[in-house]
Amino acid sequence: MTEQKYNKSLVVVIAAIASTGGLLFGFDTGVISGALPFLERICNLTTDQQEIIVTSLLLGAVAGAMSSGRLTDIFWWKKIIIITSLIFAVGSILAGASPTLGLLAISRIILGIAIGISSFTVPMYIAEISPTKIRGAMVSSFQLMITIGILVSYFSDQAFANEANPFSWRWMFYVGVFPAIILFIGMIFLPESPRWLMGNNRREKGIKVLRKVEHPDLVEESIKRIDAEIEKEKQAVTNWTELFKPWLRNALIIAVGIMLVQQFVGINTIIYYAPTVFLIAGFEGAKAAITATISVGVINVLSTVVSMVVIDKIGRRKLYFIGLTGMAIALAALGFFFLFRDNLGEGMRFMIVGSVLVYIFFFAISLGPLGWLMISEVFPLKVRGLVMSIGSLSNWLFNALVAFTFLKI
Ligand code: BGC
Repeated sequence: MTEQKYNKSLVVVIAAIASTGGLLFGFDTGVISGALPFLERICNLTTDQQEIIVTSLLLGAVAGAMSSGRLTDIFWWKKIIIITSLIFAVGSILAGASPTLGLLAISRIILGIAIGISSFTVPMYIAEISPTKIRGAMVSSFQLMITIGILVSYFSDQAFANEANPFSWRWMFYVGVFPAIILFIGMIFLPESPRWLMGNNRREKGIKVLRKVEHPDLVEESIKRIDAEIEKEKQAVTNWTELFKPWLRNALIIAVGIMLVQQFVGINTIIYYAPTVFLIAGFEGAKAAITATISVGVINVLSTVVSMVVIDKIGRRKLYFIGLTGMAIALAALGFFFLFRDNLGEGMRFMIVGSVLVYIFFFAISLGPLGWLMISEVFPLKVRGLVMSIGSLSNWLFNALVAFTFLKI
């Protein structure tokens, strides 16, 4: 019997570092919400310009998501994540220091590229390096970490929001450097994915890593499973044109449809524009609007936890019905309050925040986590990789479309 060197603390470190990947993703998407009111004030931004600043990151993410499949085929995953963390750090500094709007948009494209790549590679790395017993929990906690990242960005925006200092927004972006550095340093010490090693002519090295992270009783079983998966992967469909053939057309429609619905319900009009919406609703000053936005972030995190608990009990279909119905009612109420805002007096802005919170609750228990879960579980292994990359690409594309039209509409 080979010597076992199962290392429990390594597993804890892996969980912590992997979580930082999700946190960064959430932080960098959420941070713009608090910066926007300040940017709007000092630069007198038109709605078009505000939308460009928000959307630039999403276009970067589209480019990142498009290239990540190819990148992971060629380069070591660990290296890709290390380089991505550097892009996160550089992007955050450039965004904070941007002297012009054009450069801010470019820095956000750079940040977006890092997000697009990490939204694909980090969960994949987590899935492959986690011990069997906690793999499911680790993967679903990635979505939770995204929502926590969004919440952290709201808190940090609130802390730096200073009505007397129109340049507060710079610090909001700079903060993104810290989680990027943690991810960078952490990844240097983490091992390469055992499956990547085994599938790329480094079988012995891969098995060595597996012995460190996997429970000793499950090592042999894991080696067999990975071998079988690598074998199956050789038959996987990797050619995009294949997707348009009749036998895969439905898979394609479902993956794209799931993401279309997830984004077209308008979740990110709240995640990115909540302070802007609350200012329109009558909140006085950016700081007050950003403070109200924190409640959005808190409900988002808590409801995601609720979803993780009930998802397997209630079932996906029912959860979709519950979520969509609740969101439709909350949005109708929100529209009503805005329509009659002149007649509803002082209390109106709290009713608006209230209906936004109900909307967030219903999104975060259903469409949020379900979107990503569905595209990872309803397709046969043969096409799963391809469908997942199409899914994440469509997610960013639809997200960009909504973000670019919301204020105009
Ligand atoms: C969506 C993101 C959204 C986030 C909010 C995710 O599932 O894909 O676009 O910002 O949920 O928590």
